[in-house]
Amino acid sequence: MRDALELADTRLISQLRALPEILHDLDFTAERIARTLDAPDVSEVLGNSARYALQTEDVADELVNSAAGVMIQLFVRNGFVAEEHYHQQMPAVLSDLAADIGLVSRQRGQVRARLSITPLFGKYFFSDRLFTVEPSGSLTFSTRDDIVMPPHSSSLHLLESLAVDDSFNALVDVGCGCGVLGLALASGYASTMLVDVSPRAVRFAQANAVMNDIAATAKAADVTRDRLLDVPAHVVFNAPTTIPYDSAVGEPGMMTAETALTSAVGQLSQGPGRGGRAQVFVVVEVPHEFASAEELIRNWLCSFEFSRLEVRALPHSPFRVSSEMIALGSVDPHCLLLRRSSDARALAHYLDSRGTREVVPLVASVWG
Ligand SMILES: C[S@@+](CC[C@H](N)C(=O)[O-])C[C@H]1O[C@@H](n2cnc3c(N)ncnc32)[C@H](O)[C@@H]1O
Repeated sequence: MRDALELADTRLISQLRALPEILHDLDFTAERIARTLDAPDVSEVLGNSARYALQTEDVADELVNSAAGVMIQLFVRNGFVAEEHYHQQMPAVLSDLAADIGLVSRQRGQVRARLSITPLFGKYFFSDRLFTVEPSGSLTFSTRDDIVMPPHSSSLHLLESLAVDDSFNALVDVGCGCGVLGLALASGYASTMLVDVSPRAVRFAQANAVMNDIAATAKAADVTRDRLLDVPAHVVFNAPTTIPYDSAVGEPGMMTAETALTSAVGQLSQGPGRGGRAQVFVVVEVPHEFASAEELIRNWLCSFEFSRLEVRALPHSPFRVSSEMIALGSVDPHCLLLRRSSDARALAHYLDSRGTREVVPLVASVWG
């Protein structure tokens, strides 16, 4: 079977480019996903995809009685569809294309997706599946350590703080994952580069650029070690920060907020990228001895040359932990720093034992 991300074949490129229009015509859109899964908006679904997959058994009929429903079942809920329903609902142009580029697999009369597809801002993004829904209704989470995440609510929160900066011709999306940030902003720049340390993410980002007909280049590089800029650029980075309150949370690919910020700012405080601008989403643990997250960040950046720093805290972000929660000994069970909602006390205890006053999700903007 072909790999959907194998871009060497020029015929495959034209097939990938045909996909968005077909999907849009079927009404496989962000709005339709929210409506079908009874969510206030698609950001809610992206932030809580496993919960929406588990709690939407009651819309089972809708997931087989229309083409958009089948797409949601396969590529958003990561469930399966009986071959019979699949062929009833899928227009031949889509089922042929899906077979050709390897989007689905078939087993014992059932069709499953091989990856996720997320519609956002009129574009489509391939990524890995975080989990699959089993015939029993339970979820099996992916164990691959190079998993390329679907766009997340953190991607959308960062995007809300980002706008095209017309002082720069070049955009660099660091830690691009499936490329959602860079591809959402690319039309405002003469050039867009999508960078990730994971070669698998680079392949997804490149495939998504091709599928959405966006001229962006993707390359594998490590923001902590490699020089990424050859001109001053607008750098955006949804950094993989977390709070390692138990050993399983410190997954591969995670970094501290300090490493994320100093690495991004290092790109524009010297060398050919000097004078660029970085906007970085990080989750910052603020110790008692610092008056604010901004004071802590200024301390981290004290040995870098930069002209301006703006810190925009995101008080409504589901990554936030307030000082009251830490003092009360339990965080909001929906906090996205938790692996399981039953860890709410463990996280508060961990933060208290480290002398953390609060956890502040924020976007730091730094001009080099
Ligand atoms: C939170 S995800 C963000 C993905 C995507 N930008 C988004 O907003 O949905 C963080 C990404 O950073 C990448 N990453 C981790 N360490 C990195 C490093 N040292 N250099 C570049 N990318 C890195 C990970 O592979 C992952 O794709």
